[in-house]
Amino acid sequence: ASLELGPYRHFMQKEIHEQPRAIADTIEAVIDEGGFTPALFGPGAEEVLADVEGVQILACGTSYYAGLTARYWIEAIAGLPCSVEIASEYRYRAAVANPKHLVVTISQSGETLDTMEALKYAKSLGHGKTLSICNVPESAIPRASRLVYYTRAGAEIGVASTKAFTTQLVALFTLTATLARLRGRLSAEAEGEHLDALRQLPGSVQHALNLEPQIVGWSERFAPRQHALFLGRGVHYPIAMEGALKLKEISYIHAEAYPAGELKHGPLALVDAEMPVVVIAPKDSLLEKVKSNIQEVRARGGEMFVFADLDSQFGESEQVHVIRTPRHVGVLSPIVHAIPVQLLAYHAALARGTDVDKPRNLAKSVTVE
Ligand code: G6P
Repeated sequence: ASLELGPYRHFMQKEIHEQPRAIADTIEAVIDEGGFTPALFGPGAEEVLADVEGVQILACGTSYYAGLTARYWIEAIAGLPCSVEIASEYRYRAAVANPKHLVVTISQSGETLDTMEALKYAKSLGHGKTLSICNVPESAIPRASRLVYYTRAGAEIGVASTKAFTTQLVALFTLTATLARLRGRLSAEAEGEHLDALRQLPGSVQHALNLEPQIVGWSERFAPRQHALFLGRGVHYPIAMEGALKLKEISYIHAEAYPAGELKHGPLALVDAEMPVVVIAPKDSLLEKVKSNIQEVRARGGEMFVFADLDSQFGESEQVHVIRTPRHVGVLSPIVHAIPVQLLAYHAALARGTDVDKPRNLAKSVTVE
């Protein structure tokens, strides 16, 4: 294994660092096509996608958070209603199916039983338009789906998903832009801008990876804690959720994510000097609101760890630590901001001495109910 690991201590660390390459590979087909064409999703995709009236996403774990992130894109860019549901819940719900809705399953392994069963259930309800976003060619879920987009993360060995997540987001963004174009909502200019943003993404992700030494500094303060709170808003709220999940999975620190506007409805009661609060706060339309939410934490003596870009203009203080993330990443910002929360969880786990690649009680792929 040491040969395969190269300079890295764990597969998870290696996989975190492979993300610029994994993303570049996953967007290659889009760049080759010179745009967002249905052909990217396999034969007959145009026919399946052309008259879609809504999107239903089904997934588990980290893949579910990729889906939650994509909802913001699908609604804002493609103008389609989108719901996202945990597969193990959907499969037992008396869902009302609209056959014009596209069912998108997201699964790294393509073998997660709950996701597979949710797909079968959707089909039994009359859903004929099905699309799988998957990292393992010819696995069960893509085989059972009408269309497929393969992420090209390469084998993911660490139980906690990292490069699969960011490449799923790239695939979901590609789907969003493709649906938008089919619906006449994407000008040639906007398409060019989205393509450029994708081309620049591996570089921005590399820039985020370069924050590792600063994040190591933070992780030492996290390691002795029992609990942590993650805050975000809008498209960065699912990234806060993914950050909390990563921390739980591998460091066993209890972590919860909240949309920052909801703080006052409960979690603020937990905030004191012992509760580190991680905030994902790049400059976006909700930043000013995030800042006022943060004041509420500050007033209660909470210690804050803020990931913010230069444009966010966050002042540092004894209580507020700031790491500057790459600037101007626009619509793909959640992908770039996934990196620092992965690194934070990894280094907190390292400091606690847990089995990072094989956390207790968890499996890489859950093929039982
Ligand atoms: C397990 C893994 C997670 C993963 C989830 C869904 O819980 O530990 O990392 O996100 O399954 O897996 P999938 O292969 O369907 O994406």
